[in-house]
Order: sequence, then structure tokens, then C-alpha cells
Amino acid sequence: MPLMEPYRIKVVEPIPILTRAEREAAMARAGYNPFNLRAEEITIDLLSDSGTGALSAAQQSAGMLGDESYAGARSFFRFREVVEDLTGYPSILPVHQGRAAERILFGAVLKPGQVSLSNTHFDTTRANVVLSGATAVDLPCAEAADLETPAPFKGDIDLGALAAHLDGDTPVGQVVMTITNNGGGGQPVSMANIAAAAELCRAAGVPFFLDAARFAENAWLVIQREPGWAGKTPREVARAAFDLADGAVASLKKDAIAHMGGFIALRDPDLAAQCELVLIATEGFRTYGGLSGRDLEMLAQGMREVVEPEYLAAREAATRHLGECVKAAGVSIVEPAGLHALYLNAGKLLPHLEPKHFPGHALATELYLAGGIRCAELGSLYLGEEDADGNLVTPAPHELVRLAIPRRVYTQSHLEYVAEVLAEIAKDPGSVPGYRVVEAPPLLRHFNCVVEPVKP
Ligand code: F0G
Repeated sequence: MPLMEPYRIKVVEPIPILTRAEREAAMARAGYNPFNLRAEEITIDLLSDSGTGALSAAQQSAGMLGDESYAGARSFFRFREVVEDLTGYPSILPVHQGRAAERILFGAVLKPGQVSLSNTHFDTTRANVVLSGATAVDLPCAEAADLETPAPFKGDIDLGALAAHLDGDTPVGQVVMTITNNGGGGQPVSMANIAAAAELCRAAGVPFFLDAARFAENAWLVIQREPGWAGKTPREVARAAFDLADGAVASLKKDAIAHMGGFIALRDPDLAAQCELVLIATEGFRTYGGLSGRDLEMLAQGMREVVEPEYLAAREAATRHLGECVKAAGVSIVEPAGLHALYLNAGKLLPHLEPKHFPGHALATELYLAGGIRCAELGSLYLGEEDADGNLVTPAPHELVRLAIPRRVYTQSHLEYVAEVLAEIAKDPGSVPGYRVVEAPPLLRHFNCVVEPVKP
């Protein structure tokens, strides 16, 4: 099958195309922080695949059926039916987005002094573990450390390390498996790994949850890569993963192809009742959880569309195609390419920049200056540790840039444009300047920091 989007375009939105001088002025005004750019300054926006997808005609029309009753809305029951059918869990609580689900569930499950284990906690997941008084420990598998090996399941958890922690002295409050592993290069987790981790947790009496933001994309990669799953549908594989866990939290801004939404889905009715109390106090009544009836309808329809093989095959092919163009241009990526994002190895492209001059941030900034492409680094600016004077003391393990691909938004020619801009940068990488931090808040500094180019 040739690469082709399995939909045609019915509604379009013009994209701004600025001159280099206008982009330079915009970036300087933004303090060289892409989070401070305005949408009208961006040509291709690859900052996130979250809440940025394009709705289908069927989702739009489902939205018109939205029942906005305060309690007992028809839209909630339609949403619940789809989530129940997908997950098999009896208790379903809607929330406005993934981090609300994390806050509520972890607040009910974790106690101060406990540890939460994961293949990799996403940043909000980690923050919510910390807010509940526990400590977050990531246990990525050994293959994840080598960016360039094309191992099929680099999102797996290290089972040996998991067993050791479950046996250790610090009490483990929960294990969270992030599928796909966003913090770990968007790599999938195998069903064998989920099953083995679930078994270890069951034996230890520790709850095992999925962070299922990209449940359909993980299922698709299992079908493509894991022996024994080739004949299954994405829905069957996703269900098999949910069957192995005690519950799940999900940001539905990803694999429900909608702009807002999430869920907590649980097997244990007592835990669900505890979560429901906090849900009502902080999100909304149990039949809307911070969402409108219209949102619930569009989410339900999106969860049906996202498991369609034609859609997932095209998404995989598009990201892979971008990866091939990027590699042909001489830029290394985290191998193998996943679905929701391509991760560029900026450290390798820009060896003249030390980690303290943030090669990932330098490449992300250059993509904007050269082509109006917005994306974010996953390197020392985001993950590094600095001393009290703001000097980088522990760099990130890798200097990466994430090109997140919104769902159904950009065509193949948009992605080829991105690769062309990158190819231009790769012709003279030595001219890309490094950056230094001018101002940084004490928390989550990548969102709010101000940086400036370092003069050579
Ligand atoms: N878990 C994972 C794996 C995520 O990727 C995200 C969000 C969340 C939880 C939180 O969900 O945003 O709905 O509150 N990831 C976005 C991203 C922000 O760009 O990767 P949320």
C-alpha cells in the first residue's frame, strides 16, 4: 500500500508563513522559548500531539448530540459504554485531562514514603506522584539507553529491576506502565512485558495501572512487531493490555483524537468510590468530570475511529517516512520511529555544543528560525540538574528534540517540508549557536525560562 492519508480534507485553516526576519523578531520577543510563541507566528506546529488532532465529520456531528444535563447526561452513558467496551473495567470516571486522572488516582493510592515504579513516568505523572508524597522511580529496559538500536520494544520496563524493587525495603505503592513510553522516545511496550510486570505486581500485592494515553498506537506496534499478535485487531490488543492491569488513567487528548478529555477506569469499586469523592470536589459530577456533553460525545466517537487499522497504518507510515527523510538528510533519530513523534538526536548533530549550551534547544530554535517549525527539546534544558547558581551540573542522558505529530492534521508534504528544513540545517550544523539561561523559575523551567544565544 502506498503511503496515503485515509481521509480527505473538508475544512481547512491557513497556516502563517513568516519571513526569516519576522521569525527572528518573534523568537527574540519569546525569550527564545517556543512556549512563548504565538500560534500566528508558527508555520508547522510539532510542539505536542495532545489536544491538537483534527476532528472527523462524525465527531463533529456527534458533538451536536451533546446532552448538557448537569447529571445523568445521555452523553456520559455513551462515553461510558465505549470506555467500558474498550477496557473491560466496571468503574469509569471522566476527567478533563490526563493529569487530573493522575492527581485523583495517585492521591487515593499512594502514601508518603512509598515509591511509584514505571517504565518511565511522564512529567505530569511524576509531578503527581511527588505531590502525593511518594517518590517516582523510572526503570526503563536496557535497550532504551542505546538510541540507535532498532529493538522493537524499547518502551519495556526492566523486569529484573522491577522484581528487585518489589522485593526491596521501600514500600511500593503502585506500578504504572506508560503505553507508549512518551518520556522514553515514544517507544512501545510489548504484551509480554506488560504481562510479566502484571504478574510480578500481583505476586507482590501491588496495584498495576496503565497510563494509556496512546493505547491504540501501542496496540498497533504490538501487532506489527510482537510474535503471536499479527492477526489481532488493535481493539483486541488494547483490550488484552487493559485485561492485565487493575485499572488505567488516560489522557484522551491523544488517542481519542479530541481536544480535551481523560478517564480513570478501575476494577476495584472501593478505590473508584474514593476517587469519585475527589472527582466531584475538584473536577465535576461523576457523569461529566469537567467535560461538556459535546466533549464526551466527540471522545466516544474518536475512541472508535482511533482503532481503525487504516488510520493507524497511515500514521505509522507517515512518521516512518519523516524518519527516513530526516536520516537521508544526515540527522540521527531515536530508532525505530514510533507513531506519535520522531525524536532527533541533537547531541550527535551539534557536537560543537556542550550540554551546558543546550544542543537540543539549539536545534529546536533553529527549526523555528529556519522554517517556522515549532517543537521542544527533551535534553538538558528540560531534564538537566543545575546548582544554586544555575550552572548545569548533571546533563540529561541524551540531547533530544521531539517532533510530535498531531493526528490527521499535517499531510505528507508538510512532513517533507520539515525534513527539508532540517536538511538545510544539517548542511552547516557548526553555525547553529548554543544558548544560556537568563531567567528560570524554580519549577518546570522549560515552560517559563528565558534563554539567549551564546555569542561564538
Ligand atoms: N501521560 C502521558 C504518557 C502523556 O504523554 C501526557 C501528556 C499525560 C499523561 C498528561 O496528560 O496533558 O491530558 O494532562 N502529554 C502531552 C505531550 C502534554 O505533549 O506529550 P494531559
